Amino acid sequence: MAVTRLSYMSIYALDIAASEKHYTDVVGLRVTGRQLGQVYLQAHESQDHHCIILNASDRAGLDHVGFKVSDINDLTEAEIAARDWGLVTRRIASADILGQGDGLMITLPSGHVFNLFYHSEKVGYSYGMKDPDIILDHVDGISPVTHLDHALLAGNDCDKSVKFLMEALDFNLTETILGPDGSSFAFFLTTSSTVHNLAFAPGPPNSLHHIAFYVNDRADVIRRVDMLKHRKITTLDYGISRHGIGGVTTTYFFDPSGNRNEFQCGIYEAPTIRGNVPPIVWAGEHIPRGAFYYESAVPANFFEVVT
Ligand SMILES: [Fe+2]
Repeated sequence: MAVTRLSYMSIYALDIAASEKHYTDVVGLRVTGRQLGQVYLQAHESQDHHCIILNASDRAGLDHVGFKVSDINDLTEAEIAARDWGLVTRRIASADILGQGDGLMITLPSGHVFNLFYHSEKVGYSYGMKDPDIILDHVDGISPVTHLDHALLAGNDCDKSVKFLMEALDFNLTETILGPDGSSFAFFLTTSSTVHNLAFAPGPPNSLHHIAFYVNDRADVIRRVDMLKHRKITTLDYGISRHGIGGVTTTYFFDPSGNRNEFQCGIYEAPTIRGNVPPIVWAGEHIPRGAFYYESAVPANFFEVVT
């Protein structure tokens, strides 16, 4: 089974026009498609059709998470595995989601829905696909992010979801946090060479903690916070700081629906093969340093506010 890195997040938007403005003008994505009640967006340095789908809704939060597989036969293999694990699956047609092929929806034990798919339409790099320049003349947003990097999902039974993702879909555990009884309760998983494509932590069922976009360097994170304040984006949540877990430089803010976003950089290269090296282990009492290395403290609302 070869699941590639996190491909897209399909999320709800209370005011889809306001959300589109946020993900273009603040995050720096480009619109790549529209259909009734949906807007599709992609980063300038990514070629697949979309990394964010906005769905007009009366609620915030997560509709589903998309991961691409590298072999069409992986869909059947994943379907058989999911059914063996007693999970609900359903096939979707290529017409159901713009710019991508047939998919396999799997509902995880934590309630989160994953869509595995093989084909994605290519929109190309904004910099061009032949003899590209390295500067965009017309930039929407504070500055373009390079790509959708990872998401932190919250819910019940995260350990069961993680077990399925690792054993059936070959996700690799890079870091974990242990509770007082010595068992893991938070998980950082990768399907590529980055420290995490996906993380799980306890929380309300089937909820979203944050969606993270990658930027070039630490100075870029700092400049974005300057710009968030300069443009009077009132939804700045936390940062600038640095995570002990993963070691990344980070800042958090909210989209107009209340979904938490993150700008981050500085990930380390992780082993690509599951089980090649053991994960980094954090004791539960060291969560403050793992979450925010400089302050060694976590704001009260950081874990409580999810969508
Ligand atoms: Fe993050």
